[in-house]
Amino acid sequence: MRMLVTGGAGFIGSNFILYWMKNYPNDQIVNFDKLTYAGNLENLKEVENNPNYKFIKGDIVKTEEVENAMEDVDVVVHFAAESHVDRSIKNPSDFILTNVLGTQVLLESALRRNVKRFHHISTDEVFGSIDLEDKDKFSERTQYDPRSPYAASKASSDHLVRAYFVTYGLPITISNCSNNFGSFQFPEKMIPLAITNILEGRKVPVYGDGLYVRDWLYVEDHCRAIEAVLQKGKVGETYCVGGLTDDINNLDVVRKILRLLGKDEGFIEFVKDRPGHDRKYAIDWTKIKNELGWEPLHTFDEWLEKTVDWYKTHQDWWKKLKTPEFQKYYDEQYGDLD
Ligand code: NAD
Ligand code: TYD
Repeated sequence: MRMLVTGGAGFIGSNFILYWMKNYPNDQIVNFDKLTYAGNLENLKEVENNPNYKFIKGDIVKTEEVENAMEDVDVVVHFAAESHVDRSIKNPSDFILTNVLGTQVLLESALRRNVKRFHHISTDEVFGSIDLEDKDKFSERTQYDPRSPYAASKASSDHLVRAYFVTYGLPITISNCSNNFGSFQFPEKMIPLAITNILEGRKVPVYGDGLYVRDWLYVEDHCRAIEAVLQKGKVGETYCVGGLTDDINNLDVVRKILRLLGKDEGFIEFVKDRPGHDRKYAIDWTKIKNELGWEPLHTFDEWLEKTVDWYKTHQDWWKKLKTPEFQKYYDEQYGDLD
C-alpha cells in the first residue's frame, strides 16, 4: 500500500509516520510537506534512509506539486495545516490559503487519481465553545460553530471534504480530535511551552484566569485512532476523538507539570487573555469506542509524565527551535514576560 501523508514533518504527522512504519513496515510512505516553521525533518531521522519512506518538499496549494506526489497513491492522510490559534489571530490569510484552498487542491487531485481513501484530520475547535458549568460534550452530531480564524478554516475544509464525498463520491473519512500532546510538538503550544520554559528557568504564560478546559489526547492514542478509522471506519463518516472523561483546566495542567519537574507555582504568570478564547472543549468519543473499539491506552497523568520525560531527555531537539525568530514571535505574543 502506498500512503501519502501531508504535513508529515509536523508534530502529529511525524508521530503518525513513525507509528505507521513501525507497525506496517511493508507499506510505502510519501511525506509531502512545505516545511514551514512548524515542519522539522529531524523528527523523522529514524526512517529517513528507509527505502519505503520518501520525502517530497511541496505545498498543498500548488496543483502541479500535489498531482506529482499523488501518483500511484492508495490512501491519503491529510495533516498539513497552519495549526496555531494565536498565529491565526495575528495573520488569518495563511490559514485560509493552506487549510481551505490546500485541502480543495488535494481533494481534486485525489479524485483524479482515484485514491481509495482520503482521510482528513480535523479538530474539535470547529464545534465552538462549551460553558464551564455545562456538562455537554461535542459529538459527531454537534453543529459547527467555529470562533477563531483557525477553527473557521478547519470547518471550511471539513465541509469541502464532505462535499467531495456527496457530490463526487470520493471515499473520505474525517476525524475531529481534541488537543494533542506528546513528543515532537513545537514549543509554541501550551504543554511543550510550559515544560520547556520551566526547564529553562522561565515563567509559564497562562492566559486569563487559567480556567479554560481542553480535552487532552496523547499523540500516540491519536495515531491509533487514525489507524482504526483507516482500517475499520465507514466511508463518508466522521469520528470524534478525545482523551479524557473528566474536565481539567489549564492551571491544573501547568500545576501537574510543575510537580513533575519539582518546581513551585512561582513559575506561573497570568498574562493577557487570547481574544475570543474558547472556554471549554470536551469530546464524547463513544462512537469510535463502540464502532471501532478504540480508547486511550493510559490516563492523562501517565501520558503527561512520559511527555515531560521526553522533553527532559530531548533538550537538543527543542532548544534548536527556540531561535531568534521564535523569540520575536514570543515577545510579540507575551510582551515583557522573560
Ligand atoms: P503542525 O503545525 O505541527 O504541523 C503542520 C505541518 O504541515 C508542518 O510540518 C508544516 O510544514 C506543514 N504544512 C503547513 N502548510 C503546508 C502547506 N501549504 N503544504 C504542505 N505542508 C504544509 O500541526 P499538528 O499539530 O501536527 O497538526 C496536524 C493536523 O492536526 C492539522 O490539520 C491540525 O489542524 C490538526 N489538529 C491538531 C491538533 C493539535 O492539538 N495539535 C488538534 C486537533 C487537530
Ligand atoms: P494551545 O496549545 O494554543 O491549543 P488551542 O488553542 O488549540 O486549544 O492552547 C491550549 C490552551 O492553553 C488554550 O486554552 C490556551 C491556553 N494557553 C495559555 O494559557 N498560555 C499559552 O501560552 C498558550 C500557548 C496557550
